[in-house]
Amino acid sequence: MGSRMIRSVVIGCGSYTPKKAMKNAEFEEFLDTSDEWIVQRTGIEQRHIAAKGETTADLAEHAARAALENAGIGVDSIDLIILATSTPDNTFPATAVEVQHRLGMNHGAAFDTQAVCSGFVFAMTTADQYIRSGHAKRILVIGAETFSRILDWKDRTTCVLFGDGAGAVILEAGEGKGSSEDEGILTCHIRSDGSHKDKLYVDGGPSSTQTTGYLRMEGKEVFRHAVGMITDVITAAYDATGLSSEDLDWFIPHQANKRIIDASAKKLKIASQKVVITVNMHGNTSAASIPLAIDTAVKDGRVKKGDLIMLEAMGGGFTWGSVLLRW
Ligand code: UT7
Repeated sequence: MGSRMIRSVVIGCGSYTPKKAMKNAEFEEFLDTSDEWIVQRTGIEQRHIAAKGETTADLAEHAARAALENAGIGVDSIDLIILATSTPDNTFPATAVEVQHRLGMNHGAAFDTQAVCSGFVFAMTTADQYIRSGHAKRILVIGAETFSRILDWKDRTTCVLFGDGAGAVILEAGEGKGSSEDEGILTCHIRSDGSHKDKLYVDGGPSSTQTTGYLRMEGKEVFRHAVGMITDVITAAYDATGLSSEDLDWFIPHQANKRIIDASAKKLKIASQKVVITVNMHGNTSAASIPLAIDTAVKDGRVKKGDLIMLEAMGGGFTWGSVLLRW
C-alpha cells in the first residue's frame, strides 16, 4: 500500500559534552540543597559545565564533526545546517553560521531555530520539510546549549537542573513506500502556546533589557502541564501512522526530569525498558538533550537499524512536539 515518497533518513549521529562533570554534592558547598533532594526529585546525578571561554559553537562543532564522521561523509554534500539553541554565542549572527564556517562550508545555508527544550524536535521537523519538498538532500541538525551561562547560581530551584552539551544527526533524502514500515522520519507534530510564556523564560534580552538575563521557572507549573502536552503530540503521531506504544522499540524523550519521563511513559503505556534515560548524566541540556540521548543509545548498541523511535519534548513558550522515526 502507499506510494513512493521521499523520507528523511538518519545516516549518522554524534555528541559532545564539556570535560567538567559537576556532581550534585558540589552544590551543597554554596546552596541549601542536597544530592538526595536533587536525585529524588529529578533523577539528576551530574551535569557537564562548559569551560571558561568554551561556547555553544564549540560544543556544536564537536558534535557536528562526530556526526559527519559517523555518517562517513564530508561537509561538501551538506545542503543545510539547522542548529537549535537558546544560548547562542552572540545575539547574531546565528550560531549555525559560525559552525558552518568552522566546518569549512561556504555553500548552502545555515540558520538557528529557537524553541527552547523543544528546539531539536522543531529543528528535525523543519529539516524534514526541506527534505520531503525536495529542497535539500542532506541536512545537519544540531542541538547545542550552554545553559550554565544563563543560570542564576544562587537560585536552588533552577541552577541544579540544567547542564551543557551538544548532539547532532545527519538526515538524508531516501525513498520510502509511504508506509509505517519505511526508514526515516514517519511523522512530526509541533505545537506552541504563548499564554504560558511566563512559566519558563529568561528575564533579559537585547530588545527588552539589553542584558542576557537569567532563566526563571515556575517548576511545579511546568511539571503540571508537561505530561498532558507530551501525551497530546505522541497521540497525534500514533493517529497519523496507525502505530502505537507497543510498536515502539525506543522512547527517547527530552531529558528534564526522570519523574516527568516516567509519568509520560506510564500514561502512554510504554514499557520502562524501552525508555532511554540520560538525565542522570547530563541534567537538562534543553535542545541538546534528545540528540545527546540518541547518540548515547546508538553508541552503546541499544538503537539498531530498523528500530522505531519516538522523540518528544516540551519546554519554554510553551513549545512541545514529537518526531516518530525508523532508524
Ligand atoms: O525542560 C522543560 C522544562 N522544565 C521542566 O520540565 C521542569 C519541570 N519541573 C520539575 O522538574 C520540578 O517541578 C522541579 C524539579 C523543578 C521541582 O520539583 P517539585 O517536586 O515540583 O518540587 P517543588 O517545586 O514543589 O519544591 C518542593 C520543596 C520546596 O520547599 P517547600 O516549599 O516544600 O518548603 C522547595 O523550596 O523543595 C524545595 N526545593 C529544594 N530543596 C532542596 C526546591 N529546589 C530545591 C533544591 N534543593 N535544589
